[in-house]
Amino acid sequence: MKALSRVGQGTWKLETASHAQALRALRRGVELGLTHIDTAEMYGSGKAEELVGAAVAGVRESVFLTSKVLPSNASYEGTLRACERSLKRLRTDHLDLYLLHWREADTVLAETFRAFKKLKQDGKILRFGVSNFDVRDLEECPSVFCDQVLYHLEERSVEHAVLPWCRKRKAALVAYCPVGAGEFPADDKTLLDIAARHGVSAYAAALAFLLRDPSVFVIPKAARVEHVEQNAKALTLKLSEDDVRRLEERFPLGPAGPLPMV
Ligand SMILES: NC(=O)c1ccc[n+]([C@@H]2O[C@H](COP(=O)([O-])OP(=O)(O)OC[C@H]3O[C@@H](n4cnc5c(N)ncnc54)[C@H](OP(=O)(O)O)[C@@H]3O)[C@@H](O)[C@H]2O)c1
Repeated sequence: MKALSRVGQGTWKLETASHAQALRALRRGVELGLTHIDTAEMYGSGKAEELVGAAVAGVRESVFLTSKVLPSNASYEGTLRACERSLKRLRTDHLDLYLLHWREADTVLAETFRAFKKLKQDGKILRFGVSNFDVRDLEECPSVFCDQVLYHLEERSVEHAVLPWCRKRKAALVAYCPVGAGEFPADDKTLLDIAARHGVSAYAAALAFLLRDPSVFVIPKAARVEHVEQNAKALTLKLSEDDVRRLEERFPLGPAGPLPMV
């Protein structure tokens, strides 16, 4: 069975780039080993899934494809139907991973998981998981493959409880917005110094900081090929203990609180 690549590719708002540019970026990422592609029925109201479908045509077997069902569709029947629509837009007969995008007050988790199990039984999805779940919600889940949560250098809240939970349960923590969704500390001296010593961009160094824990996987979104190429360096980059200590000091953990999400 395929594994998640430690560095993947996000697709939220990717459909706002030109079609050709977005396709080039996704395909270059797959060539470089960023084979986990994350999308959702929500992104561009299905347009991101269509784009991914076009990008993976011909290389589907080397790609680990994740999509997500909206909570408003997450009843038993609604989840089955949403999955069919995603499969059609993605031009595939199965997803490697299917997630509940987030939980709302009226989400009946047992129904969503019943649908996930049926989809798995039917071979339409190979695994399932959740997104934006705090530990209290995670405790209500049967064994989940992953929790996809907000995590970057300047937003490390998940390290308090969600990451330890994932580690203990051998679930993956998939970090979304791993380079801060456009709010990246690109001029930070400590980060630049560490990146320069390793001959990589500050973005790759910031991703490698998250990847210091083997339970963590990252899905940066990049519409530009040069950004994809920089991010791919995080696949092999090993920060030293001193690098990690300096980054932890410069970008401290902060107090525990409710799970942040975008
Ligand atoms: N589960 C959820 O609720 C949830 C929520 C938000 C996001 N997500 C997922 O996580 C993915 C990533 O999050 P995101 O897209 O919000 O934020 P992000 O990946 O942290 O940041 C994306 C931004 O960073 C830029 N960037 C990436 N690599 C760069 C580099 N090497 N140099 C300079 N700029 C670089 C991109 O520019 P260019 O595009 O111009 O290259 C884009 O503007 C999403 O695409 C989506 O798949 C999930």
